[in-house]
Amino acid sequence: MEAFLEFDDVTRSFGNVHAVDHVTLAVKKSEVFGLLGPSGCGKTTLLRLAAGFDRPSSGRIRLNGRDITMLPPEKRPVNTVFQNYALFPHLSVAENIAFGLRVAGRPRSEIRAEVACMLALVQLEAHAGKKPLQLSGGQKQRVAIARALINKPEVLLLDEPLAALDLKLRQRMLMELSRIHEEVGTTFVFVTHDQGEAMSLSDRIAVMNHGRVEQLGTPREIYSTPRTSFVASFVGDTSFLHGYIRAVSATGGAVIEAVGLPAFEAALQKPLACGSEVLVSVRPEKISVSAAPPAGHDGMVVAPASVEDVIFLGPESRYALRLGTQRLWALRLHDRDHDSGPICKGQEVWVQFAPEDALVLDGTGVAPRGL
Ligand SMILES: Nc1ncnc2c1ncn2[C@@H]1O[C@H](COP(=O)(O)OP(=O)(O)OP(=O)(O)O)[C@@H](O)[C@H]1O
Ligand SMILES: [Mg+2]
Repeated sequence: MEAFLEFDDVTRSFGNVHAVDHVTLAVKKSEVFGLLGPSGCGKTTLLRLAAGFDRPSSGRIRLNGRDITMLPPEKRPVNTVFQNYALFPHLSVAENIAFGLRVAGRPRSEIRAEVACMLALVQLEAHAGKKPLQLSGGQKQRVAIARALINKPEVLLLDEPLAALDLKLRQRMLMELSRIHEEVGTTFVFVTHDQGEAMSLSDRIAVMNHGRVEQLGTPREIYSTPRTSFVASFVGDTSFLHGYIRAVSATGGAVIEAVGLPAFEAALQKPLACGSEVLVSVRPEKISVSAAPPAGHDGMVVAPASVEDVIFLGPESRYALRLGTQRLWALRLHDRDHDSGPICKGQEVWVQFAPEDALVLDGTGVAPRGL
């Protein structure tokens, strides 16, 4: 698939704050594209630039090959669902949804048919006559989506579409959004600071930090091969162990030395010189913990550790483990407990992980964390 909505070296500065800082990315036609990042990283600013509510300080924006950088919002085939839904309180659900077509002066019969279609799409047929005040959060959200989709935009922009909803409703609306996307096939670009939301809804995700895109990829790529320590820690859970490169092999592998661990060989995300500081990132679910030293651990990285804390999470527990001066998080499902008995705070244990589950990232200048 080809590039559809393109940001070409786009910057938006407010004084000396670069809210969006040299962003180049291309959203493909019909995909669900997630913009993920912490508060203030520039997500809304980027969305507003795509919608035309704001103009870049430099760079170009193209849609389907056409330069739209200076096009006013109403001339763009793009619609936005705002975080607060921005529904008209005095209009009914049906009138809210019809609004765009009314303004465009479309015939009454056509409006009626289109509104019926949209009400069915978002499953609000029974609520057509209600006012926004009489609706739940999830229902308001669906009205906002229907109101934006009725104009048949080529791109639907959604700013934190689920942020105002409680957890259960958020999970339901995630599935709803997915279904709506499948039915209409419109390109969706949605903003969220919630990694779970981004991972479950998006075909691809751009992880933003300080106005820049740190990494762009599928949810799986972002999760399993984060390229920076920021992405590794923002997407999913991870521990970082500080270490350095003792030797580099011709094939791109390196011997890593980290406090609390035996030296082990791992692949490098990017070429680093011998002696470089690194951060070894290991996902908690990739670490197994046992009370007894593991037998037959060919090729695994094995080390003794002590349990600093156990956090009970229902189906699983999270363990804070100390290895020398460093801390490692591990996750263990309770149904595995029978292997070696429960593990308690204060206990001396053994941890092991496969070297291929250790991501070795550039650690230059990164301060130790979580020690
Ligand atoms: N109109 C403005 N004037 C001055 N600074 C602005 C303006 N709009 C945004 N900013 C600044 O730009 C940066 C990015 O803001 P933006 O709203 O894009 O962040 P965000 O990623 O959407 O954050 P959140 O998750 O909190 O909504 C912030 O530092 C913000 O203060
Ligand atoms: Mg925002």
